Amino acid sequence: MAEKNRSQWDGGRFVKTLAYFEVIPFISCLQRLFAGRAQNQKASQSRAKRMGVILVAGATGGVGKRVVRRLIERNYRVWALVRNASRGREILGDQVELFEGDITIPETLTPALMNGISAVVCCTGVRVQPIEGDTPTREKYYQGIKFYMPEVVDNPEIVDYQGIKNLVQAAGKSLAPGKQLLFDFQNPSDDLKETWGAVDDVVMGGVSESSICLIDNTALFSGNVSTANSGGFASVRTRNFNPPLDLAGYEGIEMRVKGDGQRYKFILRSESKWDGISYCYSFDTEKERWIDVHIPFNALIPVFRARTLKDAPAFEPSHVYALQLMLSKFEYDGGLNPKFQPGGFALEVETIQAYGGTVRPQFIMVSSAGVTRPGRPGLNLEEEPPAVRMNDQLGGILTWKLRGEDAVRQSGLPYTIIRPCALTEESGGKTLVFDQGDNIRGKVSREDIAELCVQALEQPKACHVTFEVKEAENSDRSLDWDTLFFRLTKEK
Ligand SMILES: NC(=O)c1ccc[n+]([C@@H]2O[C@H](COP(=O)([O-])OP(=O)(O)OC[C@H]3O[C@@H](n4cnc5c(N)ncnc54)[C@H](OP(=O)(O)O)[C@@H]3O)[C@@H](O)[C@H]2O)c1
Repeated sequence: MAEKNRSQWDGGRFVKTLAYFEVIPFISCLQRLFAGRAQNQKASQSRAKRMGVILVAGATGGVGKRVVRRLIERNYRVWALVRNASRGREILGDQVELFEGDITIPETLTPALMNGISAVVCCTGVRVQPIEGDTPTREKYYQGIKFYMPEVVDNPEIVDYQGIKNLVQAAGKSLAPGKQLLFDFQNPSDDLKETWGAVDDVVMGGVSESSICLIDNTALFSGNVSTANSGGFASVRTRNFNPPLDLAGYEGIEMRVKGDGQRYKFILRSESKWDGISYCYSFDTEKERWIDVHIPFNALIPVFRARTLKDAPAFEPSHVYALQLMLSKFEYDGGLNPKFQPGGFALEVETIQAYGGTVRPQFIMVSSAGVTRPGRPGLNLEEEPPAVRMNDQLGGILTWKLRGEDAVRQSGLPYTIIRPCALTEESGGKTLVFDQGDNIRGKVSREDIAELCVQALEQPKACHVTFEVKEAENSDRSLDWDTLFFRLTKEK
C-alpha cells in the first residue's frame, strides 16, 4: 500500500548538499577542479580573515600606509579612506578596499563606508611642507630631523578639528562597544554562496527546500517546508570557519531579523564534525516586523540528532565552527514547534553579531605631542619643537588638533589618543617611552607608531587614554605592550 504522505525524493540535491559542506570530500574535490582552483583559493583565504573591518583614515600618509600594511599582515580586513583612489591603489596595493572621501566633507563619509566597521584608526593630518616646497614624495617633510621652515597647505581648523569631528560622528553611528560584527548583510563582503548553503530534510529523505540570497540589503532565508516523507525542516548553515571564530569573552549572539511569525532555531557548533552536537536556541519572529533577537551562550540547548543531551560539554565560544538558521516542525525530543506552519516561509536577516564582549579601543587617533603647550605659562620656547614654537604661524595647528582630540574624547566611543613626538622615517622596533601630561620631547619612527596603533586595537587597557610617546635614548630594556598600557591613567 502506498504511503499517504509520500513524495518523490531528490537524490541529486542530497549529494549536492553533502558535497557543498565537504561531507563527501571526493565529490567536493571534483567540483573544485571544475569550478576552477583560483576561485576556491580566494574563498578559503577570505574565510581565514579576522571578523570585522578596520577603517584607516589618512591611509596614504606616512603613518597610515604603515598601519594598513601591518593590519593586512595580521589578517585584518582593511578599508582605506583616501582622497584619491588611483594614488591610494599605487601606495597601498590591492589587498585593501579603497573608499574615496574627505573628512572635511561629511557627505563622503557614507553609510556604505561606515556600516560593518569594527574600529577606526585615524592618521589624518593637515598637510605641512617646507615653505621652499618639497619633492613629490615629500622627503623633506618625512625625514623629521633636519629643520625646514614649514607652512600649512590646508586649514587646520577645517581638517584637524571639523574633519575629525565629522569622522567621529559618522563612525559613531556604526561602532558598538563590546560587539563584534560577524555578518553584515547590508554590506556583504564575500559571496554569500561561498559561506552559507542549504541543509534541508532532503538529507533524511524529506522534500523541503530552502535557499539564502541577498535582497534589498538583507539575507533572505526562504523556501518551502513540507512534512512529506516524515520530513519537516529547512535550514541554511555556514561552511566550517577556518580558523574557527573565537568568541570567547562575548555573552552571546545578537541578530536583527524580520520574519513571518513562526518560531525559528539558531544553531552554533563548537566542533568541526558535520554531524556533531548542535547548540540550539529557539526564537519567535513577528510577522513583517524588525526585531533584535538575543541568544545568550548560556541559554543554548545541546542537541544531537534532535535529542537533547544531559551531559554534553558546555558550549565553547572560543571555537565556533558553524552557524545555522532553521525552521523545523519539531522543537526538542519530539515536541512540536507551536508556531510552525508547513509551506512557504521567509526570514530576513540584516546582521549577526556577538555581543557583551570585552571593550577594546574603537577609535584610535594619531595626534601630536605638544597640543596643550601653546600659551602654557613658563614654557621655554627655545626647547620646544617647531610646531609648538610656530603654532600661530601654522594656523593654530596644535590648538585645532587638541580640539579634534576633544571631539574624540567626548564621542562616547572607546578611544585611544596617541601623541607622537617628532616623526621620522627611521626603522622601527625601538624601545618606546609613554608619558602623560604633555611634557616630553624627542623623536619616534612612523614604523613604531603604526605598530602602536595596531597593538592598541587589541588592548582593553588602551581604552580612554591619551598619552605621548617617544623612543628611549638608551634602548637597553624593552617593555612589553601590556606593561606600557597598564601604566597609563584612564580619563574615565
Ligand atoms: N611630522 C611630525 O613630526 C609629526 C609629529 C607628531 C604628530 N604628527 C601627526 O601625526 C599624524 C600622521 O603623520 P604623517 O606624517 O603620517 O602625516 P601625512 O603623511 O601628512 O599623512 C596625512 C594623511 O592625512 C590625509 N588627509 C589630509 N587631509 C585629509 C582630508 N581632508 N580628508 C582625508 N584625508 C586627509 C592625507 O591624505 P593625502 O595623501 O590625500 O594628502 C594623508 O593620507 C598627522 O596628524 C601629523 O600631524 C606629525
